[in-house]
Amino acid sequence: MTSNVTLFEMSPRDGLQNEARAIATADKIKLVNLLGDCGFSKIEVASFVSPKWVPQMADGAAVLAGITRRAGVSYAALTPNMRGLDAAIAAGADEVAIFASASEGFSQHNINCSIAQSLERFAPMLPVIRNHGLPLRAYVSCVTDCPYDGPTAPSQVADVAAKLYAMGAYEVSLGDTIGAGSPDSIDAMLRAVCDVVPAAALAGHYHDTHARALDNIRASLEHGLRTFDASVAGLGGCPYAPESKGNVATEDVVEMLHGLGYDTGLSRAALSTAAAFARSLTEPS
Ligand code: HMG
Ligand code: MG
Repeated sequence: MTSNVTLFEMSPRDGLQNEARAIATADKIKLVNLLGDCGFSKIEVASFVSPKWVPQMADGAAVLAGITRRAGVSYAALTPNMRGLDAAIAAGADEVAIFASASEGFSQHNINCSIAQSLERFAPMLPVIRNHGLPLRAYVSCVTDCPYDGPTAPSQVADVAAKLYAMGAYEVSLGDTIGAGSPDSIDAMLRAVCDVVPAAALAGHYHDTHARALDNIRASLEHGLRTFDASVAGLGGCPYAPESKGNVATEDVVEMLHGLGYDTGLSRAALSTAAAFARSLTEPS
């Protein structure tokens, strides 16, 4: 019997945020529109963070204004604070995501505050998100390893995930930010997290630095996770996680899941077109 797996497409945000070369807004819009042909229900298209921290994401409002919105697709944005949330709402994001870390070192380097301070920063955003009827997603970074602090304790991931879930996030996405996780460390982490957040409200967000992301997805399926973040052509990385590479490639996840008998609702042909365009944006011509 097949069961459904949702892939949350990350390439316009996690994929492009790390790109050193300037990418034209029109090309970002074209990428999102090509992704709209693939069958995704969720695409993360922008990030309303400080342009001093991540210059590549400075044109998020123009991207959201320029895309052709497909019925049934939720166009999501990252929002680190109230200012980012206001901008995302003004730009017409369909859902927003707050992001925290399970390790103090990455929290400081990525959002310039402690884990506790980040959670305090999110608190005033919650009523605004609710009043606008926006679905809220949340990320926890460094769920197995941190580029600054080394291995992360599963209990620490569970603690942050539970707090974000209690804030009203419909889903907590678990980020192996530097792709250092293995099926064993992912398994240990999920044992702790699934005790405090239902598996149906968890997503795996695995970067593929060491080519273990597909194995980590398989390990996560065994815990009942049915949503995974991925990026066409494996685009991306985080500018504040020096060792990170892109999210696992969406096309590879689809190939593996379809082989295992899962249904993703995604078109391989449309994915291949979107991946080729994504590659053309980032590879030397
Ligand atoms: P800060 O410097 O501590 O904050 O940065 P601040 O409030 O002092 O603001 C500094 C300047 O930024 C000010 O401007 C603010 O107005 C401005 P100035 O007065 O100097 O001219 N500012 C903003 N501008 C636009 N939009 C905003 C905004 N907020 C402040 N929303 C802050 C704190 C959180 C803003 C900063 O650290 C930041 O933007 N960090 C984001 C870093 C980032 O985007 N990282 C990548 C995304 S996370 C990720 O990739 C991981 C994930 O994929 C999961 C995984 O893989 O693990 C999600
Ligand atoms: Mg990421």
